[in-house]
Amino acid sequence: MVIADLGCSSGPNALTLVSTAVEAIMSHSLQFQHPPPEVSVLLNDLPHNDFNMVVKSLVTLRQSNNKFVLVTGVTPGSFYERLFTSDSMHLICSSNNLHLLSKAPEDLSRNHIPAYDTDEHARHERLRMVRKAYARQFRKDFTLFLKLRDKELVPGGRMVLSLVGRCSDVIASNFFHIWETAAQILGVIASKGVIAKEKFDSFYIPMYGPSAEELKEIIEEQGSFSIRDMRVYDPRADMDRALFTPSWLAKQKGAIFEPIIVEHFGAVMDEFERVTERRLSLEGGMQGDHARTSRAVLAVSLAKA
Ligand SMILES: C[S@@+](CC[C@H](N)C(=O)[O-])C[C@H]1O[C@@H](n2cnc3c(N)ncnc32)[C@H](O)[C@@H]1O
Repeated sequence: MVIADLGCSSGPNALTLVSTAVEAIMSHSLQFQHPPPEVSVLLNDLPHNDFNMVVKSLVTLRQSNNKFVLVTGVTPGSFYERLFTSDSMHLICSSNNLHLLSKAPEDLSRNHIPAYDTDEHARHERLRMVRKAYARQFRKDFTLFLKLRDKELVPGGRMVLSLVGRCSDVIASNFFHIWETAAQILGVIASKGVIAKEKFDSFYIPMYGPSAEELKEIIEEQGSFSIRDMRVYDPRADMDRALFTPSWLAKQKGAIFEPIIVEHFGAVMDEFERVTERRLSLEGGMQGDHARTSRAVLAVSLAKA
């Protein structure tokens, strides 16, 4: 049985999904008294990921499951391209990745339309157009992702995906994008002259958070998979909000956006975190952030038709 996690990253979470999958396979085999299958575990991320640490953890996983996990490996590359040979995969998982687009919406970048105009009037005038451009890019990318995985999975093969999305199709009037607060903060930094206005106007955060309805529609339209289960949840709902200080939240936001921001603007992360913390302190920390974005996690379990 060949299983893979796409967009595994390299921190302590890199093996979480595949380890859970291996445990589930083993306990299923025990429960039904089947001999466990030979398992192959593959981890993917972009080529710049730190695979050294990932490889070491894979060796530990294989050693601690040495009767079942026979092969481990890494497959560097974009999940918006082919990663595995045809009909070779049984389970593909991916957590917290598919809201990351393959690129900024072409219609905006080609026509030099800023994704987030610092001028509020101009921003509201273009809101629908910008949202639609992002939604189109997501549809294109996610459809491609489904087509590619359809080729790679065996008939009946399964996928479990989670990504950042929106709570519902009804977009709150003040909701712009899942990256809105990051864009606002960069706008403040641009207004202070720390980053050039032209640099800010040509910055597109390649992220889009779909609603569950939108995700379902794309899966059904693409047609290779049936939906076995879909859940929408707010991971912050059960958290003790008192623990999340503005400074902790600012660091969190910094960690999420750092690679994209640094690539475009250079060393502005200290200023980004300072402005974020100040803003969160003024606006009521997590409560304020939560109210503005209506962000949710969408999780979907799919079976290849
Ligand atoms: C937010 S992290 C999530 C990491 C991990 N899956 C988790 O849940 O903790 C996103 C990861 O996706 C990777 N990634 C982004 N775009 C990708 C792509 N097109 N193909 C493969 N990996 C990608 C990034 O390099 C990063 O490691």
